[in-house]
Amino acid sequence: MSRVAVLAGGESLERQVSLRSGARVRDALEQLGHDAVAIDVGPDLVARLTDEPPDVAFVALHGRDGEDGTVQELLELVGVPYTASGPSACMRCSDKVLAKHALRDAGLATPDFYAFSRTAFESLGAAQALPAIEERLDFPVVVKPASQGSALGIRFAPTAQEVPAAIVAAFSYDTKVMLERHVNGRELAVSVLDGPEGPEALPVVEAIPRGGDHYDFEARYQIGRTDFACPARLEPETTARVQGLALDAYRVLGCYGFARVDLMLDAATGEPTVLEANAIPGLTETSLLPQAAEAAGISFPAFVARVLDLALIRAAA
Ligand SMILES: Nc1ncnc2c1ncn2[C@@H]1O[C@H](COP(=O)(O)OP(=O)(O)O)[C@@H](O)[C@H]1O
Ligand SMILES: [Mg+2]
Repeated sequence: MSRVAVLAGGESLERQVSLRSGARVRDALEQLGHDAVAIDVGPDLVARLTDEPPDVAFVALHGRDGEDGTVQELLELVGVPYTASGPSACMRCSDKVLAKHALRDAGLATPDFYAFSRTAFESLGAAQALPAIEERLDFPVVVKPASQGSALGIRFAPTAQEVPAAIVAAFSYDTKVMLERHVNGRELAVSVLDGPEGPEALPVVEAIPRGGDHYDFEARYQIGRTDFACPARLEPETTARVQGLALDAYRVLGCYGFARVDLMLDAATGEPTVLEANAIPGLTETSLLPQAAEAAGISFPAFVARVLDLALIRAAA
């Protein structure tokens, strides 16, 4: 039996999801016979971790601070073993621009993109470069902030007219934004789980929008507007390629423990391409990673047990 601190909540825009992930992890830990203590991450985090150090911390935080390496860096400092990726992988995954550069440098497929900082727009005339970019990327272009998740701040711009407003909207989430080529195709997610033989890809999940306007992002992400199929109905050979790409991305980004890679299966080429990796994907009742694990015969408590073991293995190394 271990004393496990479940870190959840925090101040990110994904606080509510994190609290649900944390509650589910806590239930599983109790089922496993561990002594689970919930910590809502705030100004007393370091004090709580040092006053009564847990044997291990389960990080169930999503978004800013918890998933971007900040909390991981603190856990390293106070010497508490913790689950999932370390600071550098978290930083890379939470910044889509950094992640896509790393993937592209490694020769892995990711849609073409151009990224700018707010300074590039305000002081270096980046707006003048928009027509050239739009020509290279074609319409619709996808405009997104470098960080954030859950589709926050993402817009599809169907023509050049919509691009400036989409950029302004994305800048309200981050000081860095990118314009990305729109990929028409099926939307897939592959969760990766480490194990004794190294990382393994879990069954592919497909997000299937329930009709409606293809570019109407808001509608698409409303609860109930998307169905999920797990395992996705793909040719075995396609499944293998999608899983292989997700595993390559996991390794290139330096992830550990578990992560979820979001991809598109390009309808034009039949090839998968990586949109992003989530260092700490949702772990709620409806989240994709637990569903994929279940489909692979790994119950949620078994997943939690494996991830805790991996945290202790890394700390002992
Ligand atoms: N380049 C793209 N082409 C087509 N659809 C995209 C593209 N980028 C994002 N999307 C859609 O937006 C969703 C969210 O984008 P993603 O990059 O995964 O960001 P996040 O999940 O962090 O909000 C995707 O799952 C997909 O439906
Ligand atoms: Mg995503």
